[in-house]
Amino acid sequence: MLTIPPREVRSAAGLVRRWRQASDPQELADTYGELRAAGPLVPTPWRALLVPGYEDCRQVLTDRTWRTLSASWRDQHRPGWRESSSTVGLCETPLQQDPPEHTARRRPLAGILTPRAVGQLTEARVEPLVDGQVRAFVDRLRREGTADLVAAVCRPTPTAVLARLLGLPPDTDQAWLTDQNLALVQAEELASPPSAIRRADAAATALLACYDRMLADRRRHPADDILSHWAASEPVSARYLLLTLFSAGVPTTAALLASLALALTTRPGLAERILLEPDLTDRFVTEVLRWDAPVRVVTRVAADETELAGRSLPAGQIVHALIGAAHRDPEVFTDPHTFRPNRPPRRLLALGSGLHYCLGAHLARAQAVAFVRAFARELRGARLAAAPRRQTGPSFIDITHLPISASVHHSPAA
Ligand code: HEM
Repeated sequence: MLTIPPREVRSAAGLVRRWRQASDPQELADTYGELRAAGPLVPTPWRALLVPGYEDCRQVLTDRTWRTLSASWRDQHRPGWRESSSTVGLCETPLQQDPPEHTARRRPLAGILTPRAVGQLTEARVEPLVDGQVRAFVDRLRREGTADLVAAVCRPTPTAVLARLLGLPPDTDQAWLTDQNLALVQAEELASPPSAIRRADAAATALLACYDRMLADRRRHPADDILSHWAASEPVSARYLLLTLFSAGVPTTAALLASLALALTTRPGLAERILLEPDLTDRFVTEVLRWDAPVRVVTRVAADETELAGRSLPAGQIVHALIGAAHRDPEVFTDPHTFRPNRPPRRLLALGSGLHYCLGAHLARAQAVAFVRAFARELRGARLAAAPRRQTGPSFIDITHLPISASVHHSPAA
């Protein structure tokens, strides 16, 4: 570990604490600016380094010296870690693996998430599903006046899409699946309290038991779907492939849909503009991914002595690449604190980079685009009925509650 002078750690401690506790986007943007001003590598009290610059984050994500906190790393450095079933489960996903384990676990997932497979699924399933959910929400608004879009659309959608992609049994309790996955990923949050870790552990155990039951059932009664195929061809890893897809795909996509809805309800005229200029949709989604990246922190450890931001670092140094801060780097993004729905596309880090680049990128974007178009068509004119509620914690964004009021402009012909 790099020996950082205690004075340097002490002087950064207050700033690191503010960054860990910030959930308000403006407050977070301010702490990103302060972190950048404090230097390219900001020491934390737990002897890691925060990396706020875009190019340095990209280097951490793409340079093979930087490895995940994998099971074998934890066996050496985190005694007792196997007592946490959520961490054990998440270490079976490619997100926490390095080659060769990573390559083997990633392959079957990549096989079902090709652009072609996702393209077919989008037209046949994603668009009708999203349209149906948004229309049902509009009906509910008519009846009830105000309703929470996160609970009604943003969270159920990614689970429903994955359930259809894989061929999950129709009686699967999708709301339960969503909740358990939201609880599970809290194990990855840097500042999770012990109660959240206990909930994450219980969720991992319950989810794996649920996936085992589904797979056993498909072994007995195979059907023409991915679940049956994995049940037969991936006897050991199928449960972890399911764990990967739902834990990586549901909380992140739900967060993106909520951020898109927040932008559409709080920026006057935006929904109307998107309706008139459908080509704007893609850029708008990209700008929301920049502005409010669902995954804000990626953690890695140096396998060997290396250099980052002009400083030499020893093997074993842990760094947190701050994707949220990198997306506000003024050296890469002009006026980074201004939201511009038609900002020219630039390579974001929201979906990672390099070896671990997001396998669900096409699927997430397909859901986002379908959601924005349905929102602009069915819900333009909708307004926030109360301030959104956000979960605290530096690693993931999550709008937990987005109450929308009934003043919607419904035009079936549009
Ligand atoms: C807006 C939605 C999404 C965001 C922001 C997002 C973000 C990310 C990021 C940042 C990484 C890289 C993490 C790292 O380098 O450690 C990643 C990897 C991954 N994502 Fe996503 N993701 C999203 C949606 C999805 C969906 C829908 C799926 C699948 C259904 C998915 C599956 C994966 C998988 C399997 C990996 C691991 C790839 C690897 O380690 O090789 N993601 N995602």
